[in-house]
Amino acid sequence: MVSKLNLLIMGPAGSGKGTQSAKITEDYNVVHLSTGDMFRAAISNQTPVGVQAQSFIDQGLLVPDEITVALVEERLVQSDVKERGFLLDGFPRTINQAEALSTILEKIEMPLNLIIDLKVDEKLLVDRISGRRMCKKCGTIYHITNNPPKVEGICDVDGETLYQRSDDNEEGLKVRLAEYNASTAPIMGYYKDSTDILDVDASLAPDQVFASISSKIESLLND
Ligand code: AP5
Ligand code: MG
Repeated sequence: MVSKLNLLIMGPAGSGKGTQSAKITEDYNVVHLSTGDMFRAAISNQTPVGVQAQSFIDQGLLVPDEITVALVEERLVQSDVKERGFLLDGFPRTINQAEALSTILEKIEMPLNLIIDLKVDEKLLVDRISGRRMCKKCGTIYHITNNPPKVEGICDVDGETLYQRSDDNEEGLKVRLAEYNASTAPIMGYYKDSTDILDVDASLAPDQVFASISSKIESLLND
């Protein structure tokens, strides 16, 4: 039985990390830490990190490890993470980042207790990525056909205009998938002997995907 949830969600672009993270956060109150969201906020505020990260993100390339690790470490040591546990989305993405994360988690005494690995047929991803729309203000994720807002182009939650991410195009997706297969997928080997891994069929509908995840989380909390 675990007392705090310290989770990691992995999967290629469009596999549903953000969509499932929103559901997990709502039900289990963990702190959602998405490096992609953190970089996009930094870009929109034109911070030094944002300025450094922008060209990598626009091309679909990984931002260098030292920038990314520093960003995550600064956030993980904050008190809400200690109180509520965390859900890392999009980090680590390289073996170097995984090693750095192990050092940080040892320092803050918060061991990982589950990796959720979203597996999806790559053929589904072009449609998911090209149809995605997001709210700039609250981050809610939509899809023009799978999960449309009530009013086209407008966020149901706060009425803001929806936007399309600058890296959400077929060319950028190809690069992101190649980066994932070359640098990120091998991370599972790093964790396989030390951490509980849940493989999930993320080609299914969002609620079915979430049912598998929540049933595993319930067993961690109750067994
Ligand atoms: P990041 O923002 O993490 O992008 P990503 O990994 O490419 O993943 P996405 O956010 O595109 O997809 P998702 O899995 O969250 O899918 P979503 O739920 O939105 O990173 C962006 C960039 O930042 C990177 O390319 C890199 O440059 C940089 N970066 C970030 N972290 C880094 C790191 N650690 N190191 C270095 N660089 C880093 O869903 C997608 C769409 O599908 C939505 O429209 C949704 O409605 C729909 N959908 C979701 N689930 C389903 C379902 N089950 N069925 C049907 N439709 C679904
Ligand atoms: Mg995402």
